[in-house]
Parts: sequence; C-alpha cells; structure tokens
Amino acid sequence: MKYVAVGNYKLPAVAVGCMGLAGAEEKQQREFVSAALDAGLNFFDHADIYGGGECESAFGRAVKALKIPRDKLVLQSKCGIVPGKMYDFSKEHIVESVNGSIRRLGTDYLDLLLLHRPDALFEPDEVAEAFDELERAGKVRAFGVSNMHPYQIELLKSRIGQAIVADQLQFSAAHAGMVSCGMEVNMLTAGAPSHDGYILDYCRLKEIAVQAWSPFRYGFFEGVFLDDPKFEKLNGVLARLGEKYGVFKSAIAAAWILRHPAKMQVITGTSKAARLLEIAAGADVVLTREEWYEVYLAAGYMLP
Ligand SMILES: NC(=O)c1ccc[n+]([C@@H]2O[C@H](COP(=O)([O-])OP(=O)(O)OC[C@H]3O[C@@H](n4cnc5c(N)ncnc54)[C@H](OP(=O)(O)O)[C@@H]3O)[C@@H](O)[C@H]2O)c1
Repeated sequence: MKYVAVGNYKLPAVAVGCMGLAGAEEKQQREFVSAALDAGLNFFDHADIYGGGECESAFGRAVKALKIPRDKLVLQSKCGIVPGKMYDFSKEHIVESVNGSIRRLGTDYLDLLLLHRPDALFEPDEVAEAFDELERAGKVRAFGVSNMHPYQIELLKSRIGQAIVADQLQFSAAHAGMVSCGMEVNMLTAGAPSHDGYILDYCRLKEIAVQAWSPFRYGFFEGVFLDDPKFEKLNGVLARLGEKYGVFKSAIAAAWILRHPAKMQVITGTSKAARLLEIAAGADVVLTREEWYEVYLAAGYMLP
C-alpha cells in the first residue's frame, strides 16, 4: 500500500468513501468495514449529509459491533452543506455539525474535518473561531477543505491558525480538467480553461493533499466510465494494462490518479468489499509515463 503524508498523518493512498454505506444491510456494512481494515484501509471519508446522517450512524454501529479500537481508525468528515437549501460556514453550523458527526460515528473526535463546499457568504473569522473551539475541545485534530480554489483557501488561511492539509476535489481519468489546463496552456482547446484556479499546481506548491472524489465517474454523477461503451477506448487501455499488472480495470484507474506527483489520494465510493479490494490493488501499481499518457489520451484528452 502506498501512503501519503497529510498533515501529521501518514494515510493510505486509497481512502474508503462512505457516501454509499447507508443503503446496505447491517451485516454487509460490518463486512465492508472489517474487510477494509483487514486490507490496511483505515482511513474513512464521511460527511454529515451522507444518507442524511445515516452513513455515519451505520459506520458507528459497525465499528461498535466489531469492537474496533478508536486508534485503529482515521476518521474524516465534512460539514457546510445544508442539502437543497444553502451552504453554511457559520461558526454555529460548523460546531453543531461536528458534534452531530462525532455522536453518530460513536467517537470523541474527528481526525480530519473538511469544509464541504464553499459558502459564498462565509466569514473567515467565524470559521477561525469554529476551528479554534473544535481544536481546543479536542474534537478535531486537523482541518481541510473540499471543492475550493486557491484564493478561497488563501482567504481562509489568512485568518485561521491551523494548516489546511487537504482539498477534496473531483478527479478521474474521465474528469481530468485539473490536469488538461496545465498542458493545453495558451490554447483555445476544450481542455485549456482552468475551472478551478489551477488548484492542482497550488496544492502541489503548498503540499496540500488532493483527495480525488468520484474516481470512476464522468460528469457530475452522470455515470461510471468503467464498462461504459461511451468510453470504449479508455476501457480497452485499462483492460490491457490490468492484464499486464494482474489487476482489475478499476485498479488501473486508481493507479492513474496516484501516479500524479501531487499528494494524491483516491476516495472510493463502492459499498462492496470485493470491489474495494480490487481498487486498493491499484495502490501497488506504478504506471510508466507512457502508460499514464496512454490512459489520458484514451479518455479523450489531447496533447497540443
Ligand atoms: N467532496 C465532495 O464534494 C464529494 C462528492 C461526492 C463524493 N465524495 C466522496 O467520494 C467518495 C466516492 O464518490 P463516488 O461514489 O462518486 O465514487 P466512485 O468510486 O467513482 O463511484 C462509485 C460508484 O461506482 C459504482 N461502480 C460500478 N462499477 C464499479 C467498479 N467496477 N468498481 C468500483 N465501483 C463501481 C459503485 O457501485 P457499487 O457500490 O455497487 O460498487 C458506486 O456506485 C464518496 O463515497 C464520498 O466519500 C465527495
């Protein structure tokens, strides 16, 4: 397993996303958590809103039933989205959200807290107060963001005392605008515009971990590119490289993300233990430069 330094933590490069945990039976949920830990995948990504809180609750119940000591887990959650209504980075909301997450997860603290999506009305001083209060109370040990561009992070950093250790961003072979904008520089091509203020270069410069969410999807939840005939060429290359390395296509798609020299982590979304293990095998595959570019081109991107 490849590891990534995230703040003071050394975390597995493959993180277990828990957005889909709520739908499964309790037995399946327990098996899923147990299989993840057996494979060394002890970093779990949550959010207060996943399943309306039920994903955190289900995870908490599974951990309790399995009697897993807290120090065997690294727990991350997110706050700041009030579904269908607004984004809310007020002090009150952040603190309340964390209290809810730790209660549902059955823990005393979160290892990492991420601000989920930028709130247009956010006051960095209020966020700073919330972070200080949560840190002082021992409820959160490290802080990060999600879906934020460099200036938003800089604004936040100008007021908070803590480091921002991660930015969770959508990134996959079929959603690679963060990379294409860096290669189609000064072009009028589709991949040239940066939609996120060159966040990838910023994260590299500031040593902020990039947590790739939806690593197998394209568009905004439009679908999964694995086995989708719309991505025939990409699937062909993934299958061939999978044969070469003795792993599934999903592992090659994960290895493609992890081959990037930023501090990359893959946040998986499957709720099936077998698939999780297939993906995790990708953390032991190091694609060659030629292979990395072959996947990129097969996904439909161009090289000027
Ligand atoms: N920060 C944010 O804004 C944000 C947004 C979205 C998600 N996230 C995080 O990122 C995680 C991953 O997101 P995601 O669920 O969209 O990611 P994903 O891993 O790209 O997609 C997972 C979906 O693909 C399906 N799938 C189909 N074939 C698969 C295969 N061969 N291998 C693996 N999965 C396959 C899975 O179904 P099965 O369950 O049936 O395997 C699952 O529904 C979430 O759990 C959450 O923690 C963060």
